[in-house]
Amino acid sequence: MDQVALGKYITGLAARKEPYWKEAVLGESWPVARSGSKVVGFCQIARKDADQSATIGGLYVDPEYHRAGLGRRLVDTALNGLNRPLTVYLDVAKDTDAPAFYRRYGFTPDGVVETPQPLRDSGINIPFISMKLELS
Ligand SMILES: CC(C)(COP(=O)(O)OP(=O)(O)OC[C@H]1O[C@@H](n2cnc3c(N)ncnc32)[C@H](O)[C@@H]1OP(=O)(O)O)[C@@H](O)C(=O)NCCC(=O)NCCS
Repeated sequence: MDQVALGKYITGLAARKEPYWKEAVLGESWPVARSGSKVVGFCQIARKDADQSATIGGLYVDPEYHRAGLGRRLVDTALNGLNRPLTVYLDVAKDTDAPAFYRRYGFTPDGVVETPQPLRDSGINIPFISMKLELS
């Protein structure tokens, strides 16, 4: 595992923080967590009605608010109201806290582990894990 690359990746996520999030969520219908006017988390979700699937593209909670149940509430909100049966997919950096969070939520590993193309292009080589959740 390339610890330097992983450190850069995590630092990059954290550095984006509020200005990035505000721009990312503007005009979108993703669930957003706020503390006052401050954005403290969001869950990007894309649904495909045709094959009854959805993909979580990103989930982020401000580190100051970790382990307070916000991540779970954001995913609950994103999945609430989507037609069932539904298969939910996501790819997540393997050596971070996120796989444990998703396992606890009920996701299971789905076989594929690779660095996504955009990260490979930028010279960062971090194993990702694909996970999936079947909701009936
Ligand atoms: C992953 C992340 C979204 C979790 O958000 P959170 O608000 O802290 O999660 P919750 O408080 O809802 O946690 C729910 C459960 O998940 C598990 N969990 C969450 N964080 C965990 C960690 N660091 N280690 C182990 N289990 C963890 C626990 O079982 C937790 O329940 P508990 O606190 O009662 O034990 C957050 O850590 C984060 O934003 N990380 C950085 C970005 C990232 O990696 N996003 C995923 C990319 S798709």
